[in-house]
Amino acid sequence: MKVLVIGSGGREHALVWKIARSPLVGKIYCAPGNAGTSEGAENIDIEPTNIEGLAEFASKNSITLTVVGPEMPLTLGIVNEFEKRGLRIFGPSKEAAEIEGSKVFAKYMMKKYGMPTARYESFNSPDEAKEYIEKGSRGISIPLVIKADGLAAGKGVVICQTKEEAVKTIDSIMVEKRFGSAGDKIIIEEYLKGEEASFMAFSDGETIIPLASAQDHKQIYDGDIGPNTGGMGAYSPAPIITEKVEKDIIDTIMKPLLIGMKKEGRSYKGILYAGLMIAEGKSFVLEFNCRLGDPETQPVLARMKSDIVPIMMAAVEGKLKGKEIQWRDEASVCVVMAAKGYPDAYEKGKEIRGLEDAKKMAHLIVFHAGTSILIPPHPPLIKGGMGGFKILTSGGRVLGVTAIGADIKTAIDTAYKGVNLISWDGAYYRKDIGKKALR
Ligand SMILES: Nc1ncnc2c1ncn2[C@@H]1O[C@H](COP(=O)(O)OP(=O)(O)O)[C@@H](O)[C@H]1O
Ligand SMILES: [Mg+2]
Repeated sequence: MKVLVIGSGGREHALVWKIARSPLVGKIYCAPGNAGTSEGAENIDIEPTNIEGLAEFASKNSITLTVVGPEMPLTLGIVNEFEKRGLRIFGPSKEAAEIEGSKVFAKYMMKKYGMPTARYESFNSPDEAKEYIEKGSRGISIPLVIKADGLAAGKGVVICQTKEEAVKTIDSIMVEKRFGSAGDKIIIEEYLKGEEASFMAFSDGETIIPLASAQDHKQIYDGDIGPNTGGMGAYSPAPIITEKVEKDIIDTIMKPLLIGMKKEGRSYKGILYAGLMIAEGKSFVLEFNCRLGDPETQPVLARMKSDIVPIMMAAVEGKLKGKEIQWRDEASVCVVMAAKGYPDAYEKGKEIRGLEDAKKMAHLIVFHAGTSILIPPHPPLIKGGMGGFKILTSGGRVLGVTAIGADIKTAIDTAYKGVNLISWDGAYYRKDIGKKALR
C-alpha cells in the first residue's frame, strides 16, 4: 500500500521511519518533508495547509492511508475534506481537532465532563479580564496563567508573577493582537505546581490504546530555565507515569474526554494528547493536543515494536478494540540540536557535518527536522538517499538525535555520543536531556 505523511518536522521523519518498517507498505510520500524523510519517502512539494492540493495528490496517486503530523491542517479540516472524497486519513475531524484549536472549548469540555484541571475563567473583553485580575473577586491569585484561545505556535501562554504583568499580557494578546485572531478570547487560570508529562493515545472514537509515556524539556537552557521552545529533547518511558498514575489518567481524563466528545457530536479519531501537570500522583490537564507531540514522538516510536500501520488503519475504521501495542523494554532519549538564536530569530543555510558518521553508530537514529538538501548545479548520478549532496539547516530545531539503551542513563550517553559527531556553525543543544528522569 501507499502512505502519505503530511508535515516536515522531526515527528514526521520519525513517522516515515516507523511506517517504512511496515511490511504492508510499498511506497511513502511526505509533503513537504525534509532531508531526512527523503530517505524513506519521496518528498512532494505541497504545503500542509494546501488541503485541496493534498487531497488531489492522494486521489491521483491512489494513496491508501494519509497520516497528518501537525495540528494546523487538522484544525483547518483536512480530515473532513479527505473523507468527503472517500480517502482514508488518520486524524481527528475539524470539529474534534478544536480540542487543541480552541483552549476555551478545551476548558469547557474539561469542566463539563469533570476532568481535573486548573480553575479558570474565559474572557472575550480585555476590560473584563483586567477587572477579574484587579479585584481577584472570584478568587484568582498570582502567579496566574494567561492563555490565548487559538493556535499560537507554542507562544500563546504566559505565566504572570505580578498583576502588572498580567495586565500587560492581556493588552498584548487582546488589544495589540500579538497572535492575531488567536487572541480574540483568552483563558485566565490558576497556576499549578508539579512535574509535567505527556500522555498520548490512539483513539477510534470508542476505544483508546495508550502509547508509551514520555516527558519533554520545553525550555531552551539547561536546568529548565529560559524561554519555552517547541521542545529541546524528550525521553521515554517517563518514570513519573507509574502504572497507577496511568490508570488514573485513563479513568479521569482520557475516557471522560472520549465520551464527552462523542456526546457533543465530535467523535474523536486519531491521536489524543494530554499535556499534564502531575503532583503527588494526581494528574491535571494543562491542555489537549490533537496530534503526536514533537519531540516526544521520536523516542516513543523508537521504542514501538508493533507495526504502526495496522493500528492507524484500525483507528480510522473504528476497530481498535482488542488491539495491543508491544513496546521495547529499553529506554529512549532524543536530544534536539537547534540553530543559533532559536527560539527567536535564527540562522539558516549552515552545512551540517558528521551525519554519515552518526549513521554508523549502533542504537542511534538521527531524525531530521529543519534540514534541506543542497542540490548542486550538476547533481552527481546517485539514485535515492542523500549521498553526495550537502545537507543544510533550514529551521530552528534541526535534528533530533535519538538513542535506545538498556536504561535512560545508557540512552543518554549514546545520544550525546551521536551529538558529538555532528556539527555546524552555531549548533546549540542542551547538555542535560534526560537527567530529570534519573532523579
Ligand atoms: N495552569 C498552569 N500552571 C502552571 N503552568 C502552566 C499552566 N498552564 C500552562 N503552563 C505552562 O505553560 C506551558 C504551555 O502551556 P500549554 O497549555 O501546554 O499551551 P501551549 O502548548 O499551547 O503553549 C506548559 O507546558 C506549562 O509549562
Ligand atoms: Mg503545551
